[in-house]
Amino acid sequence: MTRPTAPHILDVKLCMLGFGSVGRTFLAMLRDTEERLAREHGLRFLICGISTRHSGFLDATGMTAGDLLGIVHVGRDDLCGPAVPAEELIETCGADALIEATVLTPGGQPAAEHIEAAFRHGMDVVTVNKGPVAWHFDHLRRKAERNGRRWRFEGTVADGMPVFDLVENCLRSCRIHGFEGILNATTNFILEALGDGRSFDDAVAHAQREGFAEADPSHDIDGLDAACKVACLANVVLGAAITPDDVPRDSVRDVTPEQVTAARAAGRRLCVVAGGRLDDDGVHTGVRLTELPLDHPLTTIHGSALGLILHTDLMGDVFTAELHGEVQQTAYAVLADLLALYGRH
Ligand SMILES: NC(=O)c1ccc[n+]([C@@H]2O[C@H](COP(=O)([O-])OP(=O)(O)OC[C@H]3O[C@@H](n4cnc5c(N)ncnc54)[C@H](OP(=O)(O)O)[C@@H]3O)[C@@H](O)[C@H]2O)c1
Repeated sequence: MTRPTAPHILDVKLCMLGFGSVGRTFLAMLRDTEERLAREHGLRFLICGISTRHSGFLDATGMTAGDLLGIVHVGRDDLCGPAVPAEELIETCGADALIEATVLTPGGQPAAEHIEAAFRHGMDVVTVNKGPVAWHFDHLRRKAERNGRRWRFEGTVADGMPVFDLVENCLRSCRIHGFEGILNATTNFILEALGDGRSFDDAVAHAQREGFAEADPSHDIDGLDAACKVACLANVVLGAAITPDDVPRDSVRDVTPEQVTAARAAGRRLCVVAGGRLDDDGVHTGVRLTELPLDHPLTTIHGSALGLILHTDLMGDVFTAELHGEVQQTAYAVLADLLALYGRH
């Protein structure tokens, strides 16, 4: 952090890997909240480097989001210059923090390497990519500690819905002994649509039009996305050391409309429940097709919404939900993490 512009304003330099929907929406949010962040938190964020796989931007002095958005062709995913290799960007741009917003890959690489490189070069890290937390949490936690750095990942489980922040700041001293959630909107939507008489393909196409299913929705349909979220939660709040490969998962690919309507007729709702539980035998996890009774809080989750119940010792069961999960919420998770790192508390 450098060069106060006014006595009470701290400049925080950021670099970004990945500049897709989340990166662009985050930058627009920074531009639109610049005055508020200065007034309420005494912070000004400057962007000094961004790279994707095919284009990049580097300016070690840093630009405000507003100035930067005036020159990059937002919406065309074109950053004016050639791509900058991740290690080079991290080494040369002089940022205080890396925002890791590249795509999820099974195994969590190269995102985990990006994060490790950032720690080595003295940066804090915010990631919205589940891969590094799901596959490399303990390793990266140790690397951060060894380098005296911090990393946050609020956007990895439920867009911007407070999950880790909730545990850290609102459930102090509680022991979490389990969780259950609807953590994938696409599969939740598909199951409801099947019960309403739509075909599987029509339900997927609708979820894609609404923007909560990916162009390739197989990670959602086959439970990998939810298994990654379960691994993130289990590693961070249950103290597990697992990867998504350890999470047994059901696909919704073969669910029939008759299964959904039979559950309805019995006064239940068929859902994909992402869960984890800590007992004397260790941590048990799963992404399972489950018939929930209609008075279960998770049956109130519809459309793009996500919900999570945390089972705690001191506070009992806590239910949190995001009613509209869009990219705006994920962009907010990045901002919330940055404010947790650098804001006034
Ligand atoms: N969208 C959401 O609402 C949401 C919600 C929660 C979490 N997330 C997570 O947030 C991350 C970003 O999501 P998104 O929606 O912004 O994805 P996106 O629109 O597909 O953009 C991904 C970006 O990552 C870049 N990229 C991929 N691999 C890279 C690499 N090895 N080095 C540098 N850049 C690389 C891509 O560059 P190219 O275009 O050059 O390939 C692109 O700019 C993902 O991990 C996603 O799972 C997203």
